[in-house]
Amino acid sequence: MKKEFAWPQFTKNLLIMVGSRHRSNLKRPTWIIVLVFIVCFFLLAAYIYPPRSSASTCSLFNSQGCSVGGVGRTFNKPPPVQTREFTDKETESRVVINEILKYYAVQSTVPKVAFMFLTPGTLPFEKLWHTFFQGHEGKFSVYVHASKEKPIHVSPYFVGRDIHSEPVTWGRISMVEAERRLLANALLDPDNQHFVLLSDSCIPVRRFDFVYNYLLLTSVSFIDSYVDTGPHGNGRYVERMLPEVEKKDFRKGSQWFSMKRQHALIIMADSLYFNKFKHHCRPNMEGNRNCYSDEHYLPTFFNMLDPGGIANWSVTYVDWSEGKWHPRSFRARDITYKLMKKIAYIDESPHYTSDAKRTVVIQPCELNGSKRSCYLFARKFYPETQDKLIHFFSNSTTF
Ligand SMILES: *[C@@H]1O[C@H](CO)[C@@H](O)[C@H](O)[C@H]1NC(C)=O
Ligand SMILES: *[C@@H]1O[C@H](CO)[C@@H](O)[C@H](O)[C@H]1NC(C)=O
Ligand SMILES: *[C@@H]1O[C@H](CO)[C@@H](O)[C@H](O)[C@H]1NC(C)=O
Repeated sequence: MKKEFAWPQFTKNLLIMVGSRHRSNLKRPTWIIVLVFIVCFFLLAAYIYPPRSSASTCSLFNSQGCSVGGVGRTFNKPPPVQTREFTDKETESRVVINEILKYYAVQSTVPKVAFMFLTPGTLPFEKLWHTFFQGHEGKFSVYVHASKEKPIHVSPYFVGRDIHSEPVTWGRISMVEAERRLLANALLDPDNQHFVLLSDSCIPVRRFDFVYNYLLLTSVSFIDSYVDTGPHGNGRYVERMLPEVEKKDFRKGSQWFSMKRQHALIIMADSLYFNKFKHHCRPNMEGNRNCYSDEHYLPTFFNMLDPGGIANWSVTYVDWSEGKWHPRSFRARDITYKLMKKIAYIDESPHYTSDAKRTVVIQPCELNGSKRSCYLFARKFYPETQDKLIHFFSNSTTF
């Protein structure tokens, strides 16, 4: 057997590729010319595209994952190594959540806003909401979760919109379960692109068009999320939530959210974090501790999994400034043009902490570097305020 050993295997393959079909016709001098030509071409290319000093691998031969002048971004970097090893469930959960967030694309031609009402029974402000919705058919849908008794509806927009409901106890996980039930029902309609949770004491403070554009022309969800270092914030954290939920990630926030479709979907996909809160964040825990999942699950979940995707404030106004256990409730005599205008034009959101000094952190309502008014809805209002509110909405162009 004749042993052929002229060129190393790699070079031989290269020559075969270059020589292509007409290899057999080429004579040795032609080969040399071709080789010299290739070498010249590479030298010329290296001269025209010199390697950059800060990113030496970013050259003609490595355009993939190469950013112009990018320091340290020359290769497609592998994800950073975790300081803590993820549990199996955690890895699975992250994969599903990240894929939903990455591949989600808006598909409807006329997107709708889903208004989801969480109420014990009949909605006292149905007439006001009717005025709000009138003339905007096709741009909204209504869902009602009545946890105590079947509501009596006066507006055609609400008739037939009750979903299956279960009893809800304040501060218990059943509250979060009702929120999930509303989201699941509203997700059945593919045109629903933004989901707003409202209570029976909520009112709109802006006109429909303003609300619609505000919600649909932004890419974020309005989920309240902040650090409360006091006893009613971090004081509610229990180490049993480890390893998945660490104290540094624990957040607090108002339950009245408004969210994008992809965020509603990841809540449907989540059982890991939901169960952590279901079992370890509840009232009457050991040591007289009270934890309320409706104030911690979503603020913590989004802070951990898509912090840049949420605005960190709620679009539902509430007045905690009196410093009492419950927020201020507005009566008919409180309702003035001045008050309604004040609420509608607030552009900073306060976060009250429960530490000994009752620190208030006031932050501008800012997205993409531009300030905006914070609120579209408000609570808590007594039913007696309805007629005055309808009067304001019908007769003023301010809102
Ligand atoms: C910020 O600006 C970008 C680009 O203009 C836009 O795509 C995005 O939706 C904006 N974000 C918000 C929250 O409005
Ligand atoms: C919300 O807060 C998180 C965590 O503090 C931050 O990463 C994120 O950028 C904030 N969102 C906006 C829109 O500023
Ligand atoms: C608007 O204002 C006029 C005059 O004050 C009043 O007569 C009318 O009832 C108001 N409209 C509503 C819907 O309240």
